Amino acid sequence: MSSKRTPQLVTVRPWDDGRAWSLQSEILCPPDKSVTHRSVMLAAMARGESEIVYPLMGADCRSTMAVFRALGVTIEGDTGGSAGATVRVSSPGWDGWRSPLTPLDYGNSGTTARLLTGLFAATPGLFVSCFGDASLSTRPMGRVVTPLRAMGAKILGRDDGRLLPMAVYGQPLKAANHTVDKATAQVKSALILAGLNCEGQTQVTLPGGSRDHTERMLAALGAPIAVTKQGPNETVTVTGPFRPAARRHLVPGDPSSAAFFAVLAVLSSGTLVIKGVLDNDTRTGFVTLLEQMGAKFERRRLVDRPGYLEPVMDLVVHGARELKAIETDPAAAPTFIDEVPILAVAAMFASGKSRLRGLGELRVKESDRLSKVVELLTVAGARVWTEGDDLLIEGPTEQVQPFVFDPAEDHRLAMAASILAKFAHAPCRIADPQCVAVSFPDFFEVLASLG
Ligand code: S3P
Repeated sequence: MSSKRTPQLVTVRPWDDGRAWSLQSEILCPPDKSVTHRSVMLAAMARGESEIVYPLMGADCRSTMAVFRALGVTIEGDTGGSAGATVRVSSPGWDGWRSPLTPLDYGNSGTTARLLTGLFAATPGLFVSCFGDASLSTRPMGRVVTPLRAMGAKILGRDDGRLLPMAVYGQPLKAANHTVDKATAQVKSALILAGLNCEGQTQVTLPGGSRDHTERMLAALGAPIAVTKQGPNETVTVTGPFRPAARRHLVPGDPSSAAFFAVLAVLSSGTLVIKGVLDNDTRTGFVTLLEQMGAKFERRRLVDRPGYLEPVMDLVVHGARELKAIETDPAAAPTFIDEVPILAVAAMFASGKSRLRGLGELRVKESDRLSKVVELLTVAGARVWTEGDDLLIEGPTEQVQPFVFDPAEDHRLAMAASILAKFAHAPCRIADPQCVAVSFPDFFEVLASLG
């Protein structure tokens, strides 16, 4: 986000009666970012015409779309809006991509950078060079480059391939067995995608589960892919070569975007219905945690949704007067990792000491989110600190102080700060609010619609 930075501040006015505000409303969940990225990738890998229904047109997904356009894939139907359009993808197929003449811009998007490194490294004859914005340029790429090199990948990059910019020379890769030391969906997915173009079995073993859209989508497309669990470990095995066929991809609502408004509703009184939310346990850990804190949810499964690869629900959220502190299991962290900034806001209002454990990965997200969450809650008057990789919050915070906060161009911090501001006793100011466009371009419009 940094290259075209226009410093700007948004003022968020608190609700007059704070937590007593009675929210009675219904909102449509914006489309899922992870599923949109993968739908674009699978459509570009398939020869022929695919459709993506209700894609997220946020900045990250636009980065993935722009990359494939540069490789010779036609993507039409972008109405310039943030969601809702049906996008048509017409591709020469994985073997027909042409090497772009100019470097690819991955923007702020870790999913674009990591998954496409796997895909491109395994595409013989393709050459790409790529870069990202200031934030993405600090994020670790060695976690995909090292295992891909073990398969024979030719990748050059800054700091011996640990950082962008990079250059990838696609090669015929050898299938391999990988053991990854973190439960990360981006690394898992990069290796699975590379494995699709190898002869034989590629295996990825991780120390726990993480979001599983790549596996589910490939299985639905008929790929020979299997997932086994042994204790906490998860192993994904894919047998190549496999080519996905063109199809219609339907994108469900993004639980990570729903989480901001779910917490807003939990902290108010009344009821909010968030329509069309993806109901996948690897993504909805925030609901479980808020329930443990004492919040009440109803999950209304939508059964008349033919074509969706994953269950979808209307999530009904009820305001909770009393919340209690929680302690989380580090193994569950991947199920709510992107929701920590907004869960930390909820924990400010809970009685007792919350401990969210095993959050080291937050240091290498779009910003050092662990430090920035501490900074946000501190300026708002909370008692908050870290111990190693754990985040501790002692609540309840009696009065939220009005604050000025710079989210360091991190979309999830800007949105968490805006929700928190609704409960301050005077207006708050948040810098660079436009960074929400990365995952939720209409965030401020939805917030304003709720009063
Ligand atoms: C993502 C995986 C997660 C998540 C990120 C998107 C994905 O990262 O934090 O926002 O689309 O695969 P991990 O690689 O840490 O699982």
